[in-house]
Amino acid sequence: MSSSKKSAPHSENVFDAILTARVSRRSVLKGSLGAATLSLFGGCESVRQALDADSGPLLGFTSIPVSRADTVVVPEGYTWQVVNAWGDPIMSGAPDFKPDASQTAAEQAMQSGMFHDGMHYFPLPKGSNSSTHGLIAINYEYTDDNLLTTDGMKDWSGEKVQKSKNAHGLGVYEVRFDGKTWKTVKDSQYGRRITADTPLTIKGPAAGHQWMQTAADPEGKTVNGTFQNCANGYTPWGTYLSCEENFTAYFVNDSGKIPRMQDRYGIPKTKDSWGFRWQEFDERFDAVKHPNECNRFGWIVEFDPFDPKSVPVKHSAMGRMAHEGAMLSLAPDGRVVYYMGDDDYRSKFEHLYKFVSAKPHVKGGGYAANSAILDEGTLYAAKFSADGKGEWIELTHGKNNLTAENGFNSQAEVVIDARTAGDVAGATYMDRPEWIAVNPKTKEVYVTLSNNTSRGKGNPLHQKEPLGAEPANPRAPNLMGHIVRWREAKGDPTSTQFEWDVFLLAGDPGHSDPLKRGNTQLAFGQPDGLYCDRRGVLWIQTDSSAQNMATKDWENIGNNQMLAADPKTGELRRFLTGPVGCEITATQFTPDMRTMFINIQHPGEAPLPHPGRNDPAKPKAISSWPDGEKGGRPRSATIAIRRIDGGVVGS
Ligand code: FEO
Ligand code: CA
Ligand code: CA
Repeated sequence: MSSSKKSAPHSENVFDAILTARVSRRSVLKGSLGAATLSLFGGCESVRQALDADSGPLLGFTSIPVSRADTVVVPEGYTWQVVNAWGDPIMSGAPDFKPDASQTAAEQAMQSGMFHDGMHYFPLPKGSNSSTHGLIAINYEYTDDNLLTTDGMKDWSGEKVQKSKNAHGLGVYEVRFDGKTWKTVKDSQYGRRITADTPLTIKGPAAGHQWMQTAADPEGKTVNGTFQNCANGYTPWGTYLSCEENFTAYFVNDSGKIPRMQDRYGIPKTKDSWGFRWQEFDERFDAVKHPNECNRFGWIVEFDPFDPKSVPVKHSAMGRMAHEGAMLSLAPDGRVVYYMGDDDYRSKFEHLYKFVSAKPHVKGGGYAANSAILDEGTLYAAKFSADGKGEWIELTHGKNNLTAENGFNSQAEVVIDARTAGDVAGATYMDRPEWIAVNPKTKEVYVTLSNNTSRGKGNPLHQKEPLGAEPANPRAPNLMGHIVRWREAKGDPTSTQFEWDVFLLAGDPGHSDPLKRGNTQLAFGQPDGLYCDRRGVLWIQTDSSAQNMATKDWENIGNNQMLAADPKTGELRRFLTGPVGCEITATQFTPDMRTMFINIQHPGEAPLPHPGRNDPAKPKAISSWPDGEKGGRPRSATIAIRRIDGGVVGS
């Protein structure tokens, strides 16, 4: 462990080592960074000064070992409990979960969806600072349809497709702390589900464009549903943002003639899809019959969690991609800035984006005064240079080669085909950019680059020639993932210039292969979830697939886990390990920081190619978390973590 002393000579040397690594791919490949770097200290001088203003160590818990146990493990002095799991009733009139998963599609539409992902805690009453009562707005990213019904995908039917769609989407549920435990409030007036069929409005430059028009919606302004909602965001005016990620895997095109847009976004043949089979009972997922339907997904969705009747909006100005998340950074003048990763499961090489609103938001104005803020603004894509500098390239029609000659006739076409816009403008291809965190004290930004085993090889969606290791993505292949950090010029999130470095390389420090070793003292792979709390602790969550975790490379890493980093000292501690086959996702705190909420997603994922479905005849063969022996099948869940003495979590 490194010292928490500031500006120690040793730390300066480590900082130098990281700076060298940023521009020297060879030093990483030789593995010298792994030996030299026991801590992660780095960053600009101004950042260091800002953090040095604080005193005392940030991390106060004892790091825990790796685990293969089918349970959640937290440090000594901490406790956890389930708050809300798949199938739990969240709307008035919803039945309880049935352990054999025999609830109907209609019942599922009133219960929590299947795979909990991004979420946000909103205190109740609205506008208060309550740490004992609130709403949780949440994403249900996808499903294992072999666990969703009693007999799984056998005898596939319209009812089963409907249940699958109803287990996707978004939810709002009300929670209360009684001094001992958190409970979901029954029959809440706020309880809500949004599914893959709920009508949403499209706003911004793409609304009404011919690429958005379909037989069912000739105006191109209303789309049914949202799904593959991965990470999330929030607004200063109290609304929730949800991000549509790998939507392409639900559409199929078996014509052998893929149009340009479908090709760049990777609409697959049935054999390459994720096998959700929705197209068999809902033909809008057949991309041959309905070629524009897929253009209506891949957006940022906004809705008001306090108003269950409000119609969610897809904000096209923020661009279309496999959106991982949307992380807010507020500009000094009140404009909102969102950082967004594009984590495409097939391409693996996509860009990192930023949206800057045209107008400042109305402080204290609520949703009514700010409902159009996300419909007008500038979209950028990031270019990382070898000298540690970077640039945000504007994706505006008429600029940076985004002209008719290059296939862009309007801003609508730029945002619908944002990936090609990033290609044409010269943005960097990143290794699956996932969650983004902003340090509230320093405004430094961090992004997880989960992995990219295709780095060094060609790419199925674009760039047929190999894309090798380069400074911001320094390992080829990149199995274990890394975290990149940047600081905007003058600390202003609207700047178009930044400075960056590699914050850490994940891996197993004991691995014989230097490419899989990483440069930290703790073993972990494939960072995904990321959150920087009010105190400046960076919480890192991992999402290694069950298929990867079954390999020898994960021998010393074990189940997915959650770590805490102190960016000031470079100290890293392991805070939590999850049950078998799960991914750890989302980090939220109550305002008093005495409760942390996270999600345990897809416990019991089968070690097969994604999405790794279970055997419906043996639903508990891999995991029975959280219900154990008395339960019928594993269930994703939101859990609350507290210190037994009621203190601040992490300190
Ligand atoms: Fe849904 Fe990129 O994780
Ligand atoms: Ca994710
Ligand atoms: Ca993931």
